Amino acid sequence: MTPRLPALRIGPYPVDPAVVLAPMAGITNVAFRTLCREFGSPTSLYVCEMITARAIVERDAKTMEMITFGADEHPRSMQLYTVDPATTAEAVRIIVGEDRADHIDMNFGCPVPKVTRKGGGAALPYKRGLFRNIVSAAVRAAGDVPVTVKFRVGIDEEHITYLDAGRIAEGEGARAVALHARTAAQRYSGEADWSRIARLKEAVTSIPVLGNGDIFSAADALKMVEQTGCDGVVVGRGCLGRPWLFRELHAAFTGAPIPDGPSLGEVGRILTRHAELLADHLGEDKGLRDLRKHMAWYLRGFPIGASLRQRFALVSGLAELADLVGELEPDVPYPADAEGPRGRQGSPGRVVLPDGWLDDPEDTAVPVGAELMHSGG
Ligand SMILES: Cc1cc2nc3c(=O)[nH]c(=O)nc-3n(C[C@H](O)[C@H](O)[C@H](O)COP(=O)(O)O)c2cc1C
Repeated sequence: MTPRLPALRIGPYPVDPAVVLAPMAGITNVAFRTLCREFGSPTSLYVCEMITARAIVERDAKTMEMITFGADEHPRSMQLYTVDPATTAEAVRIIVGEDRADHIDMNFGCPVPKVTRKGGGAALPYKRGLFRNIVSAAVRAAGDVPVTVKFRVGIDEEHITYLDAGRIAEGEGARAVALHARTAAQRYSGEADWSRIARLKEAVTSIPVLGNGDIFSAADALKMVEQTGCDGVVVGRGCLGRPWLFRELHAAFTGAPIPDGPSLGEVGRILTRHAELLADHLGEDKGLRDLRKHMAWYLRGFPIGASLRQRFALVSGLAELADLVGELEPDVPYPADAEGPRGRQGSPGRVVLPDGWLDDPEDTAVPVGAELMHSGG
């Protein structure tokens, strides 16, 4: 039986089905979001790449360009990386005052050493007072624009923060929380512990709780809802090179039969569409270069031979892509071994923190040097 997903609202917006494209730096630009929306529901939620508050305040040209949405994209959902309540408020005032987005998600899940070493990303919720001040600053500056908060389980198994983070975000007026059910020390390795999503759902009762981690198929999404009672699912790596996963998720949550994966001919058409959207957004040269990182994901498991695979991975123009797509055998069905985990996995590692970071969780001091200028991770 299809698990019943209660109607999800994030502030004023219905999210139906309750499926969210996870923010992914270097991936979820306007082209990829458009493609996912074409397969999924226009009323699901598709979050942009991470944008840093400092870069907005400085009006960094590249960052301002990254805050690009499709003409009919609604709500325009952006993700903010931030470590300082004052910069947060200033950045949110710019976003809202200049009508640049309809929803702001806050990133407290980044496990990258260069970020945690300074106290940013997944290190930050350990400082409960500072975390509270940042969320509060964002919510107050955002006015009617809903703010949501995304975080991990904690720094590591000895420093678990997600239940406090959830309650604090709820208390400060966040409109939903999302949990990537791994610690920062796990990075992307091992398995997400979905039982923690269930625990968070028990702790946070007045706003939606979204579950994230290791949804690689529509069946995984149904299982997460069934096992955790979460109000919606956030899907990241599962849709790398598989934007049609949104078609499958839509079917699963509306009780329709889950369609088969695309044939090789269809994959050729889909990656051509992706290329065209990227060329519109970035220009043909940059757009096709950006597409290269998606090629191995799109073609995974299809028997096309090493040489053609290599030429796809180096494609540099739309005409060349059309020639390559013309060489694909259109009727090859979607391969079973393209299923399962994909995207980065890596290995666990100790989380590097600033000196003395764990001494006082109530300390509200803004960490020095943790602001990032570079949007997109
Ligand atoms: C390439 C890549 C980039 C990511 N960038 C961000 C980001 O900018 N902001 C964020 O909150 N999470 C980011 N994440 C984490 C995802 O949003 C998500 O939480 C994580 O991948 C777990 O979900 P999954 O198992 O469905 O992939 C990124 C993940 C990947 C693989």
